[in-house]
Amino acid sequence: MTPSALRLRPLQHADAAVLAAWGEDTTFCRHTGWTMTSRDALHDFWARQVDDPPDGLIRLAVEDADGDLVGYVDLHGSNPGEKELGFVIGPSRRWGQGLGLRAARASLAYGFEELALDCMWAEALVANMASVRILQSLGMQETRRGEPGVFLGEDSYYLQFRTRRTEWTRSLEG
Ligand SMILES: CC(C)(COP(=O)(O)OP(=O)(O)OC[C@H]1O[C@@H](n2cnc3c(N)ncnc32)[C@H](O)[C@@H]1OP(=O)(O)O)[C@@H](O)C(=O)NCCC(=O)NCCS
Repeated sequence: MTPSALRLRPLQHADAAVLAAWGEDTTFCRHTGWTMTSRDALHDFWARQVDDPPDGLIRLAVEDADGDLVGYVDLHGSNPGEKELGFVIGPSRRWGQGLGLRAARASLAYGFEELALDCMWAEALVANMASVRILQSLGMQETRRGEPGVFLGEDSYYLQFRTRRTEWTRSLEG
């Protein structure tokens, strides 16, 4: 059965309560690097993100077919033709169901179709296998080894991936 599509939409105030609850999910926090803080502080943080998003960041909510918030994606960077892609699925009980891949794929479509970008890039720690697997599955090309980093206490390093609009269009055709 084909999984139903995910919807990307602007973050809204009602999302702040859902996102703040993810801060109590220890597994989620360890993987994302969110520091454990109070639910109220996280709620305020997310409400501020809605009211006053950081410069150069397009952050979109990911909604499933039931209208539930299941993650968010980031398209980041001040260059008009190019953005860095990031993606988060939450809470952790939603992992392993294909949502990450579908959210990342929807972000590429958004970047190339809605923002008319020429190029999108992303980086993932090698030890974060789900993340690397998603970028490979999208057909993004590995371009270079990036900075060292730590994932779940393990020393690792970033791999950078990139795809151009022409490659993405071709992948849809074939
Ligand atoms: C990374 C993340 C988005 C993955 O989301 P997800 O919904 O679990 O991803 P999917 O179910 O689409 O799985 C993607 C691939 O990773 C694989 N995978 C999932 N969990 C894995 C794990 N723990 N180890 C190895 N592979 C794993 C899946 O099998 C799948 O590969 P396949 O297509 O070859 O079968 C999610 O774990 C998350 O939000 N992590 C915290 C934030 C983060 O690391 N974001 C990425 C940095 S930009």
